[in-house]
This record gives sequence, structure tokens and C-alpha cells, in this order.
Amino acid sequence: MSAYRICLLPGDGIGPEVVGAARRVLDSLPLSFEWTEAGIGFGVWQQCGNPLPDETLQAIKSAHATLFGSVTTPPDIANYRSPVLRMRQELDLYANLRPCRSIPHAISRPNINLLVVRENTEDLYIGRERLEDNGNTAIGEMQITRRASERIARAAFEQARLRSLNKVTVVHKANVLRQTTGLFRRVALEVAQEYPDIPVEDMLVDTCAMELIRAPEQFGVIVTTNLFGDILSDEASMLVGGLGLACSGNIGAETAVFEPVHGSAPKMAGLDQANPLATILSTAMLLDYLGEGEQARRIEAAVLTAIRQNQVTSDLGGTLGTQAAADAIINLLGGN
Ligand code: IPM
Ligand code: MG
Repeated sequence: MSAYRICLLPGDGIGPEVVGAARRVLDSLPLSFEWTEAGIGFGVWQQCGNPLPDETLQAIKSAHATLFGSVTTPPDIANYRSPVLRMRQELDLYANLRPCRSIPHAISRPNINLLVVRENTEDLYIGRERLEDNGNTAIGEMQITRRASERIARAAFEQARLRSLNKVTVVHKANVLRQTTGLFRRVALEVAQEYPDIPVEDMLVDTCAMELIRAPEQFGVIVTTNLFGDILSDEASMLVGGLGLACSGNIGAETAVFEPVHGSAPKMAGLDQANPLATILSTAMLLDYLGEGEQARRIEAAVLTAIRQNQVTSDLGGTLGTQAAADAIINLLGGN
């Protein structure tokens, strides 16, 4: 059996701890991995002036898939931009998949199984902002293209099929942002015609934010533009246990980077307190991407069992530290 080449990007804060924990889970599986590690984030910027060095981009490109922890982005350092955005844009990781599923725990609402499919390369995230009028007016440009809308819509319908989700909801704000999100809506509904077996609807983003709280079980796939997807996916994650469990994949045509949705939590760094489950669930998405669905399902099942048995960190009411919570998963998988 040939080895999967996996690039690890531990990053800042709690990133190295959760990535280390998840790597141990992968190493306990009956699969073979070859690991490389590369630098990303504020710590790397302090050392070499670039938070995403070319060697790191190369390392990601040469791997079959990448597992990324988290980075710290201080808001008050002029000209410092999060390397996450550059990574997504430069590697054209156009689809950000963020699943939210109910867990057997009082913190979670029941009967939720939805997937936010977030466009990951354009919208207001292109970073074209400027000040005018002596700094008294700020202007930002929002870019929506047919090409990006078409491919993200296709990704959404393919995911609905793959995961047997009951429908696709196209989320926009075409009553106000008529040209930009209007184009997104129109193109997504065009793509829907290629998938007559999958029901489709469209919904305004404010209505969607409300419906997610009111009746989240109605949703299957939510496909939307970059900024709306950023916000709605954080909201949705809170329905099913919060950011400690929220996993994601940034998928491109050439490669993919998997990451927990949470940030670097600098105050928790080095304390062995962070919940590793979001990163461990991200490795399940990574395994799906590699075509190792059977091992992915085993990891997901072990995570649910650990939650049921209260073998979890304090954010979920348990007493375990980061590494012990990973050990619990490894034991449930029957490994080392
Ligand atoms: C996310 C994060 C990023 C984003 C930040 C860290 C740039 O919030 O992955 O959702 O806005 O996309
Ligand atoms: Mg976000």
C-alpha cells in the first residue's frame, strides 16, 4: 500500500496541539502516511516577514492533502493580512465545506444534518478596500463572477448527492445587492437545472439566519457567497456544540486543505485544554477526500461515542485534556 503524503500546518496558538492530536489519530489507522510540516502564521511572519512563505505553498502543492491548525491575526498591525485568505486564493481552494450535524449531547439541538458550501475565493474577500475623502469614507469592492458561482453551485449539488441531503438552498441578498448576489443567485439556479433529482430553493440571507435558529432541521445544503458563508457557518456550528466541533475543508481542483473552523485561542495555547475534536473531524473530511470513506466513518463514529461517554474536554463538560481526548478516540478505534 503506498503512503498518503500529508502536509501539516500547525500554525499559531493551540494549532500545534490540535494538529498533533489529530495526527496521532490518523497514525493509529490501518493506513500509511508520510508527513511533512510547513510554517504558516504570525510566528512565521515574526521570523521571516512572510506569514505564508513560498516553501509552504510548495509543500501544500506537493502533498495529497493538508491538515491546517490555526493562525493568530493581530488586527492592529498595519499591512498584516491573514495568510488563510492568501492560501485559499493562491491555491484556488474554491469550495469551503462546513458540515453541521447534531451530536448526542445536551449542548446540541436534535435532527440537524446540514452542510454550508461557502464560495471561498471572491466576494468582499478580494481585499479591494480604500479610503477616500481624507479618510472619512471607506469603500470596498465586492466581486462575483459567473465562473466562481457556477463551480461552487456545482460543488453544492454534488455534495447534496454524495451525502444524500434533501435539498439545496441558494442564499443571497438579491433584493438589495441586485447585481452581485443577483448574479450568484441566477447562476446557481441555472446550475440547479442540471440536477433535476435534487430539490432547490433560494432564500435571502437574513431569512436564512433566522430560519437557522427557528427550524434548522429543514436545511440540507446551504450554498452561498464568501462573507455570508463565513457568518452563517459560525451560526450553524453553535446549534450543534459550537466551534470545538466545527470542521471544514477548503477544496480546489488540485489539492485540499482541511482545518478546524476555530481560531488559535492564544490564551489557551500550551495548556492542553483545547478541544481536538474539530481537528479530528477535519481529518475525517480529509480521509473522504482521499477516498478513504470507511476510515472516515470510523473516526466520526468514535467521536460520537466519546461524546456519549463524556470522554471529552471541559467545553463539552468533560475533564480530559487535549491529548487525553485524542487518546480516547484512538482507544475507541482500537489502535495503539
Ligand atoms: C474562517 C475565518 C477566516 C475567514 C478568517 C480567519 C480570515 O473566519 O475561516 O471562517 O473569514 O474566512
Ligand atoms: Mg469565519
